Amino acid sequence: MFFVFILMYLRTSSALLLSTRDRVSTRNITCQNGSSSSNLLFNCEVCLVISRNYEIRTTLSLTGSGPLGVTYACLQVNQIEAYHENLVRECNNFPQGTLNGYDDFCVASPYNKLRGSYRACMCITNACNLNYSECVQRTKPYWDQKPPTFSNSIVSLTNRIKCYRPYEDYKPQQYSSLTPLCSSNDYECKDFLFDQGILCVISVDRTNQITRQTLPPSIYSAHLMKYKSTFCKSYTWTSKSIYFTQCQQDETICMCAVDGCDKDLETCRKSRATSICHYSFFYFLLLVLNIYF
Ligand SMILES: *[C@@H]1O[C@H](CO)[C@@H](O)[C@H](O)[C@H]1NC(C)=O
Ligand SMILES: *[C@@H]1O[C@H](CO)[C@@H](O)[C@H](O)[C@H]1NC(C)=O
Ligand SMILES: *[C@@H]1O[C@H](CO)[C@@H](O)[C@H](O)[C@H]1NC(C)=O
Repeated sequence: MFFVFILMYLRTSSALLLSTRDRVSTRNITCQNGSSSSNLLFNCEVCLVISRNYEIRTTLSLTGSGPLGVTYACLQVNQIEAYHENLVRECNNFPQGTLNGYDDFCVASPYNKLRGSYRACMCITNACNLNYSECVQRTKPYWDQKPPTFSNSIVSLTNRIKCYRPYEDYKPQQYSSLTPLCSSNDYECKDFLFDQGILCVISVDRTNQITRQTLPPSIYSAHLMKYKSTFCKSYTWTSKSIYFTQCQQDETICMCAVDGCDKDLETCRKSRATSICHYSFFYFLLLVLNIYF
């Protein structure tokens, strides 16, 4: 009985990554790209259109950050998960299970007193992002057409965790790819990250300098994807961490989702979801001891 329970538990919690396979492109559509309305690109996987009533400057949002007015994007297949996840996290009702969708109320950089709100729409037919209302129309399914389902390759992290404060001794490191997410005098931003972080990052560069970062819900997926698909050549992972090696500039990077797991690289690399498992194993041992003694 207990073995079954333990095995089942291990099976359901054994990976931070749900899939290691690269997403395969299934479309070749035309999308508007950039901020002027005359730049059409081929070979897109998904089109995106975003509308803002004022400029939003923040490093804490992938889709929210940008100029006043409308911006258009042609997304490649390796970009869609990061953008989709950002919209799911920042918008009231952006659909989690389908690729296309829209939302009129999304909020970027939610820590700020002047919160940046925007509208966003993702669509998957030729030239569907020429304007926002057209995009919204095109996401509504025809009677015989179901919107394509979408599933993540990274576990959807929701628990807030405490990472080491990255800025207390922060100096920009020449050989680290981690850059500060908040400017040095923006304490609201720093407190927001400390309170809302869901993934800790630690990097050791080729001069053995340690750099740390805390990632909030809207962009952890984008950062993880960057290292997984372009910046590093290999990785290993557990239920709560992913450890990247052979990265550009000889950096080693680890991301983890347990309180205090960014103490050092080893702690990060070994971070796992073990509590229930420990308990059940302990219980099991007690049971065995009871039988034998
Ligand atoms: C698409 O637009 C973005 C943002 O303006 C720009 O950085 C990028 O270079 C454009 N892509 C192409 C292929 O023109
Ligand atoms: C995508 O479509 C364009 C225009 O129809 C075509 O020129 C291009 O070769 C296609 N690309 C791929 C990878 O099929
Ligand atoms: C939006 O785009 C569609 C088709 O490209 C066009 O027919 C429509 O007039 C545009 N609407 C606005 C408000 O520009």
